[in-house]
Amino acid sequence: MKKHPFDKPVDRRETSSTKWERYKDRDILPMWVADTDFTAAPAITEALQARIAHGVFGYTQRPAELNSIFTERMQQLYDWQAEEEWLVWLPGLVSGLHLSCRAVNSPVTLTPQTIYPPFRSAPGLSGGQHLGIPMLEQEGRWLTDFSALEAAITPDTRLLLFCNPHNPGGTVYRREELEQLADICVRHDLIICSDEIHCDMILEPGTDHIPLASLSPEIAARTITLMAPSKTFNIAGLGCSVAIIPDQALRNRFRKVRRGIVPDVNLLGYTATLAAYQDGDNWHRQQLNYLRGNRDYLLQEINRIPGLKLAHFDATYLAWIDVRDVSTDDPAAFFEAAGVGMSPGKDFGDAHFTRLNFGCPRSTLEEAIRRLRQALAG
Ligand SMILES: Cc1ncc(COP(=O)(O)O)c(C=O)c1O
Repeated sequence: MKKHPFDKPVDRRETSSTKWERYKDRDILPMWVADTDFTAAPAITEALQARIAHGVFGYTQRPAELNSIFTERMQQLYDWQAEEEWLVWLPGLVSGLHLSCRAVNSPVTLTPQTIYPPFRSAPGLSGGQHLGIPMLEQEGRWLTDFSALEAAITPDTRLLLFCNPHNPGGTVYRREELEQLADICVRHDLIICSDEIHCDMILEPGTDHIPLASLSPEIAARTITLMAPSKTFNIAGLGCSVAIIPDQALRNRFRKVRRGIVPDVNLLGYTATLAAYQDGDNWHRQQLNYLRGNRDYLLQEINRIPGLKLAHFDATYLAWIDVRDVSTDDPAAFFEAAGVGMSPGKDFGDAHFTRLNFGCPRSTLEEAIRRLRQALAG
């Protein structure tokens, strides 16, 4: 079979990689934190090399053309007419979650549960409380229970942290579901921080990402959308993301709580982001095709292993695996002992699961499957 460029393993040892250092000198495949093992698009590495060759790395401001490139991208990809003045660039998306909590200052913040761990910690670290709303599996899709969400709202609830596409679970919310959510938020006067970092990582043909804020001006006025090139182009280590805040008063509050605490994006982050948005989409299409192949392979193989279950999912390179039938108190440790390092489900709010990052060459995935099969044989 013809080799795909993404088949080529890249040696990430001795590169201070968070993902790889965890299992340094141990025979455990690192399949946890959400970056991929693929080299970035040539357009990005070339732009970075050119910038580094210049040799002067002083204070840097946003490249003049970045805002218009980003808003045109929103129009083209998502039919969303965002305005340039709505954008606030940040060195990390998690900072955006925290700043949203601080800007809204809600005594109680709702989040779906299961969820990417910083959603659970940001409200408490910002002086409020977090309340998890259950997710339900409906026809094989993990969805926020909107009835439970509405029932949980009290006068102390002013903020919802929402994630679409969902991490973990890979759900892409459909228009009617988002409309239902928007309706609840408008009726109860909630602000929504919508983390859409995985919006470009849709694997299922015919499935589209819809930015929540694109539904109507009414919902846009109460939404802080968070996006980034980091997952799309595998440049998480360069730290660049963006908050899109149409409402001026909310944007001012967000900027105010950021002032003096959250720095600007660094010059390499901006350089890579600009190159990615200008010239990275061809690479990204190839990456999506490759990841789709990995997902289909995983769906087939995981569901053949006794004790493991994986529901079909539409987006992300993160597989949310149901391991409740594996007899162990600590599933992630059990799989580490078998040589596969996954994220523990308990960190996301459900200890019956583990999360496997399949952003890697197929050969690594095949080896992981072999190890999982062996660990659960007999
Ligand atoms: C839903 C979600 N939000 C935020 C992040 C992290 O964003 P950043 O590294 O820009 O803080 C991730 C990374 O996995 C994520 O999955």
